[in-house]
Amino acid sequence: MKELNCTDPEVDNIIAHEVLRQKEVLNMIPSENYVSPNVLKAIGSVLVNKYAEGYPTKRYYQGNANTDAIELLAIERAKKLFGVEHVNVQPHSGSPANFAVYMATLEPGDTVTGLALPDGGHLTHGWKVSATAKFFNSIQYHVKEDGLIDFDEVRKIAKENKPKLIWCGATAYPREFPFEEFSKIADEINAYLAVDIAHIAGLVAGGVHKSPVSYAHIITTTTHKTLRGPRGGMIMVTKKGLEKDPELAKKIDKAVFPGMQGGPHEHTIAGIATALGEALKPEFKDYASQIVKNAKALAESLMENNIKLVSNGTDTHLILVDLTPFGIGLGKYIAVALENAGVCLNANSIPKDPSTPFKPSGIRLGTPILTTRGMKEKEMKQVGKYIADVIKDYQNIELQNKIKQEIIKLCAEFPVYEGL
Ligand SMILES: Cc1ncc(COP(=O)(O)O)c(C=O)c1O
Repeated sequence: MKELNCTDPEVDNIIAHEVLRQKEVLNMIPSENYVSPNVLKAIGSVLVNKYAEGYPTKRYYQGNANTDAIELLAIERAKKLFGVEHVNVQPHSGSPANFAVYMATLEPGDTVTGLALPDGGHLTHGWKVSATAKFFNSIQYHVKEDGLIDFDEVRKIAKENKPKLIWCGATAYPREFPFEEFSKIADEINAYLAVDIAHIAGLVAGGVHKSPVSYAHIITTTTHKTLRGPRGGMIMVTKKGLEKDPELAKKIDKAVFPGMQGGPHEHTIAGIATALGEALKPEFKDYASQIVKNAKALAESLMENNIKLVSNGTDTHLILVDLTPFGIGLGKYIAVALENAGVCLNANSIPKDPSTPFKPSGIRLGTPILTTRGMKEKEMKQVGKYIADVIKDYQNIELQNKIKQEIIKLCAEFPVYEGL
């Protein structure tokens, strides 16, 4: 791995500090993961140099035999892993993947519905500041008091507003999605159902979560979260999608290129192919199932230590902590206190947050990275205690320093990126 170091001391120095941070901190942002050394090598390859506008065998530039091969390999692996008919691996990330779905299925001004951002939805599912709400008529649905999707509201929006596209999926929703419910509603009004599995792709791939393939017309994902690949996006079209519109795969491809993007990032696509190859191995099933076991153990530990969780637990890789028993709008303060103590997570709005998105009342954390490091339920119990102690006494710098030292020792027992 040494060869990845460049000879620019200023850049090297910054990267070296980041390597150390990733080794010594409990990184618990649920949308992050640690890629394998092989994925790192693939994205650091000379494929970065190549322009490959177009699609395999239909490129606008010469010299693309190898990029064709790598892109076709990524597509073939994704089709096999998820069991879908068509895959586009070119979106630069999750947001452009989602934008391409709007481009492929709607005209500007058409109606769309998705979960509101403060309730766990993603910006690109029609939140007001996103282009998806500026160029389309977005009507958002919410979660109920118990933190679960309000299906009465989804049905009401479907009946009254007839959205042409329904989004299912989230960025901060700790429960499994009932894809079937969404699919019934979408079918009744002849809408497209797009399921965004950005967060749970690894759990679906590993068979721990139900697959949306038989319910959705389109599935989008990022490749860098639980799937443990490089930063990228994919759009998949299912058999159901092609039955609804036989031209859907072509429309998706045209929406990505030339609709939204120019040259694909073939070095990233090589990293995606590598990660998909890893996800196809039997060990990945164990990894995915351990992520959820760890999240459940962590949730238990937090609750045993009197920390309130949205929906009182988790079915996924992530946990949403409701900090309102300690005060309103404390998310950022507690995220900073935890960072001082060696735990990196993010402040997050909670459903019906009494504060603003800039000063949210929750924190969001997850277990993909800790699981990649090899930690199990035993460690989660201890980590839950550390987090609860810091939350309850978040102004206690001495406590943060003490926990930080213990966390450095814990991290050393679960080494990563040895040799880097
Ligand atoms: C559900 C969901 N969709 C899409 C995205 C967008 O991904 P990106 O940040 O890669 O654009 C995210 C990112 O967190 C997400 O959580």
